[in-house]
Amino acid sequence: MSDENKDYQKAESGQPLALEKRDRAEDGRRFSPSTGRNMHVVRDVFLANMPTVGHVLEVASGTGEHGAHITDAAPDLIWTYSDIDAASQDSQRAWRDTAAHDRLRGPLTLDTTHDAWAESEGPFDGLFCANMIHIAPFAAAQGLIAGAGRLLRQGGRLMLYGPFARHREIAPSNARFSLDLQRRHPQWGVRDLDLDILPLADGAGLQLSGVTAMPANNLSVVFEKD
Ligand SMILES: C[S@@+](CC[C@H](N)C(=O)[O-])C[C@H]1O[C@@H](n2cnc3c(N)ncnc32)[C@H](O)[C@@H]1O
Repeated sequence: MSDENKDYQKAESGQPLALEKRDRAEDGRRFSPSTGRNMHVVRDVFLANMPTVGHVLEVASGTGEHGAHITDAAPDLIWTYSDIDAASQDSQRAWRDTAAHDRLRGPLTLDTTHDAWAESEGPFDGLFCANMIHIAPFAAAQGLIAGAGRLLRQGGRLMLYGPFARHREIAPSNARFSLDLQRRHPQWGVRDLDLDILPLADGAGLQLSGVTAMPANNLSVVFEKD
C-alpha cells in the first residue's frame, strides 16, 4: 500500500474532493478508511431495500469499494461506476479489473451539477450515491435527484447514504462535521432530509420508501420512482 493522497484529494481545479487519507494497493485499488468501516452495513441495507437483479448506476463511486462489495453479494446485479475525479476512476477501474466477475462496468465521467448528466445512459433499476451531497455544492444534490427521476425506470430505486439533519435537528457530531465542511467550502454542508431533499424528490417523481438509521449518525434513504 502507498499513500498518495496529495493528488487524490484534489480535482484538477484544486478543489478538494475527498476528506481522508486513502491507501492504494499495487494493483491500483484504493481503500477509504470510512468506507471500510461502513461498507458492510451499507451493503446489508442495499440488499434489503434495493433491486438486486438488473442494473445499478453508482454516482460518485470514489474508491469503488461499495460497488465491489455489493456485487460480490448480489450475483444478478450489474453495477456501473462513475465519478468526476480521474484518480477515483483509476481506482474504480482497478476494482473492476480485479473482480472475480464481469458485472462491474464503467467508470462513466459525470458531474451531477451538469444538466442532463448521463443522458445517453439508462434506464436503470437503481441509482446509489454515498457520501456525496454534503461534500459538494447543493446543486450536486439537486442534479442528482433530478437525474434519478430521469434515469430510473418506473419502480426503480435511489439509495442515498450519509449524514443528514431532520427538520433542522442534527446530531452534535454531524453539526460539527457540517461546520467543518462549510469552512472548507461555503457551499458544502450536511443537508436536511426533510427540508432540502424531500422537496427535490417530490419534484422528480420519487416517493420516500424508507429511512434506516446507520452507525455514526448516518442514514440510508431509499426512494422509489412513480
Ligand atoms: C467522500 S467521496 C465518497 C466516495 C464513495 N461514494 C464512498 O462513499 O466511499 C465523494 C465523491 O463524490 C465525488 N463527487 C463530488 N462532486 C461530484 C459531482 N458533482 N458529481 C459526481 N461526483 C461528485 C468525488 O469525486 C468523490 O469521489
